[in-house]
Amino acid sequence: MSHILIIDDDDQLRKSFHKLLTQEGYDTGSAASGEAGVAMIHQRCPDVVILDMRLPGMNGFETFSAIHQIEPKLPVIIMTAYGSTETAIEATKMGAFDYILKPFDIPDMLAIIRQAVEASRFMRSPIEMNGAPDSAAQDAIIGRSASMQEIYKAIGRVASTDATVLIRGESGTGKELVARAVYQHSLRADQPFLVINCVAIPDTLLESELFGYEKGAFTGANHRRAGKLEQANGGTVFLDEIGDMPFSLQSKMLRLLQERSIERLGGRDPIPVDVRIIAATNRDLESAIEAGRFREDLYYRLKVVTIRLPALRERSGDIALLSEYFLSKFSREVGMDCPGMSPDAQALLNRHVWPGNVRELANTIQKAVIFNRGAPVSQEDIAIAIREKIPDKNTHDEPYDQLLRRCLHQALTDYSGDNVFDAIMDQVAGILIGEALNLSAGNRSRAAKLLGLSRPTLHAKIEKYGLKFETSVREDH
Ligand SMILES: Nc1ncnc2c1ncn2[C@@H]1O[C@H](COP(=O)(O)OP(=O)(O)OP(=O)(O)O)[C@@H](O)[C@H]1O
Ligand SMILES: [Mg+2]
Repeated sequence: MSHILIIDDDDQLRKSFHKLLTQEGYDTGSAASGEAGVAMIHQRCPDVVILDMRLPGMNGFETFSAIHQIEPKLPVIIMTAYGSTETAIEATKMGAFDYILKPFDIPDMLAIIRQAVEASRFMRSPIEMNGAPDSAAQDAIIGRSASMQEIYKAIGRVASTDATVLIRGESGTGKELVARAVYQHSLRADQPFLVINCVAIPDTLLESELFGYEKGAFTGANHRRAGKLEQANGGTVFLDEIGDMPFSLQSKMLRLLQERSIERLGGRDPIPVDVRIIAATNRDLESAIEAGRFREDLYYRLKVVTIRLPALRERSGDIALLSEYFLSKFSREVGMDCPGMSPDAQALLNRHVWPGNVRELANTIQKAVIFNRGAPVSQEDIAIAIREKIPDKNTHDEPYDQLLRRCLHQALTDYSGDNVFDAIMDQVAGILIGEALNLSAGNRSRAAKLLGLSRPTLHAKIEKYGLKFETSVREDH
């Protein structure tokens, strides 16, 4: 349970916070002065601090500085009244997580608290690399394949430099985990790590979030605000989904990378900022450049150090290890003993192609664990969980003929040799038959029906293409 410390001299306000945050599932502590708050942090470090600026004795700003010295990564949310925002701005420039204005808008305030709790977890829960399947770590990178060994080496090599890192890979391959591992092993590990998701924030807000603004820069900008890049000074900024960054912002990013300075919206003077950038994307940046959606000069700046995560189907040898890890993780989460899995369930997991990669595998196993309530996971459970999979967030509204076209385009660029046509057609047939067998839990009669083939014809095709599938345990005769 996340622990939130409230520092405010107003008894009533502390009580209301306690009530509200307890209802939201947080554990709270409170202090009536800056001195008392700092003493409490020495004893037990909370996950997030909510700090009033107007305090007797040590004032809010001094308290913030003291906290920041003890624990630079601890997210501190400043509370202030309209009219006294200058100190809050100063504090955000010094690295306060964010500020909220009195009177509070409760949903907005809870949203900021949630973000701060997540930021705290991101910075402080360590990522175990090359973790064991029964690892109790909250987050571990699992995989022993050669391609994952290369990833661990790459993380080790780049972490201790200040180089910009670009992490690429399909959706669900673990880009965010790798970004956190790079940060945690870097020289800046004791400084903040800020995550900005370029897709989650509307285009119009992204610029002011990142770069901040001066009073009067646009309608509604009635006070100055430091942007996230300024707040993360000295630390690391993770720009997630950078391939979706609006074109107009890309030149500002380029300037940050080249000149190590930013300009607030409506501001004239460059402000020096020292941040390390880690960026990630699942987009094909090269095509985005061709289509005029991504700046080539920014691309070259970003890609100096690239970590490319393999798709799960390219490291299918790791599926068993990952399955074991998720099985033990999710059963632990619901307070059960690890139920184990039948060999044919594992075989089904091994031969599925996992378009949603590790995320899809995790979701599948989580569903199977929840539905099964402690019984060993069977092939049928997995088949059901795969069929009900959450649609892939990047492809769910793309018609399948377009998806197929993209895959075949990729295949044409990957294959070479005399029999490209036959090689691709054989592969397509193999995948089609494999999916039909997956959907029917390995039952060949049902798979034949799905494909509109007779059972002998399906059997002949399986032979022809040399496909190796487990024979179903539940054949209809
Ligand atoms: N190697 C791995 N070991 C254990 N868990 C993993 C691994 N790779 C990914 N995961 C888990 O899979 C899920 C998706 O990973 P993550 O969010 O890092 O993917 P992503 O590449 O950032 O995807 P997207 O492009 O969709 O944002 C997370 O829950 C993550 O913990
Ligand atoms: Mg991600």
